Amino acid sequence: MERIYLDHAGTTPMHPKVMEAMQPYFREKFGNPSSLHTPGQEAAQAVAEARASLAELLDVAYPDEIVFTSGGTESDNTAILGTLFALKKKGNHIITSAIEHHAVLHACQFLEKQGLAKVTYLPVDSTGLVDPEDVKKAIGEKTVLVTIMHANNEIGTIQPVAEIGAICRERKVACHTDAVQTVGHIPISVQKINIDMLSLSAHKFYGPRGVGALYVRKGVRISPLMHGGGQEKGKRSGTLNVAGIVGLGEAAQQAALEMDSEVRRQSEMRDSLIKGLTEAIPDSLMTGHPTQRLPNNASICVRYVEGESMLLNMDLQGIAASSGSACTSGSLEASHVLLAINLPHEIAHGSLRFTFGRDNKTAHVSRVLEVLPPVVERLRAMSPLNKQT
Ligand SMILES: Cc1ncc(COP(=O)(O)O)c(C=O)c1O
Repeated sequence: MERIYLDHAGTTPMHPKVMEAMQPYFREKFGNPSSLHTPGQEAAQAVAEARASLAELLDVAYPDEIVFTSGGTESDNTAILGTLFALKKKGNHIITSAIEHHAVLHACQFLEKQGLAKVTYLPVDSTGLVDPEDVKKAIGEKTVLVTIMHANNEIGTIQPVAEIGAICRERKVACHTDAVQTVGHIPISVQKINIDMLSLSAHKFYGPRGVGALYVRKGVRISPLMHGGGQEKGKRSGTLNVAGIVGLGEAAQQAALEMDSEVRRQSEMRDSLIKGLTEAIPDSLMTGHPTQRLPNNASICVRYVEGESMLLNMDLQGIAASSGSACTSGSLEASHVLLAINLPHEIAHGSLRFTFGRDNKTAHVSRVLEVLPPVVERLRAMSPLNKQT
């Protein structure tokens, strides 16, 4: 049975060039980049090259504005907690949205529980968009940070971050964006989107797991979360994960080469899957924005069936997709994102997310269109949720 992987927002397989680039750094070139001897300096050079590749992908002005971390979760936590700790004399108010990833939401909730911050969770419209006017209205004297994700991991909606960033700049408030789902997938210039901090994660764009970065614009103050040897200019102590960082740099280079053609190819597959499924399955709807969405994200809700049942049935036929985000799959709670776009519980429970990648082809769309509609029909016939029963 051919296995079809359509969960690239969950994680991606490493690009063969990434594996090749990382290989020497596990044994032959194992030096610690903080060491002054030749093996150490070889490793330091490799880290500098990776930093430069990532800086180029994101149009970063100074490569040392990039701080390597262990991934998206650490980058988000560093931006949020780090800003709050650094600016506690100025204020304690944070603005975010109701549809952020848990790496942002739970960091904010932690600060609230500790009594360290007050957080405004902005609503979104039915397509998942934050209104920049709401950001403007929410900013007050004590606001130290606005953190709004670049694109949502479940429904794929891309936020107007450049507009939000411009508002923050005018009001002199730091602006962070979680770009874990966009870096390597769509063009990003940190100069043009007016943001001060940006989180990214290598495993979402064909790099290795357990490595990521936080872009921190020069002059923006954050306190480190990790204290120790002072690596990354004191912003993130800990011996650098050289092989991982080399992999991240290579993934950035490959993304730059493949992005244009992949955006075109994947958005075609996305559109034909959304159209095909919503036409073939009665009582189904697309979730997210119709046009301002990630090129690889086809997310839908199917009424009167559980997302998990559809997933397991598709998995038996070799198709790997997701219901909501990977972290919330397995729990019976409806996704906070789908509830925030005002879907009733019974619809939100029937969510499915297909996310395309560089190894997918149009035949995979046809296969899903062949497999899913009969699965839904069968499940509906058995379902107590079905309107006919
Ligand atoms: C939008 C978003 N932010 C943050 C993360 C966490 O990234 P990582 O897995 O690198 O910790 C994810 C991963 O699912 C994500 O989709």
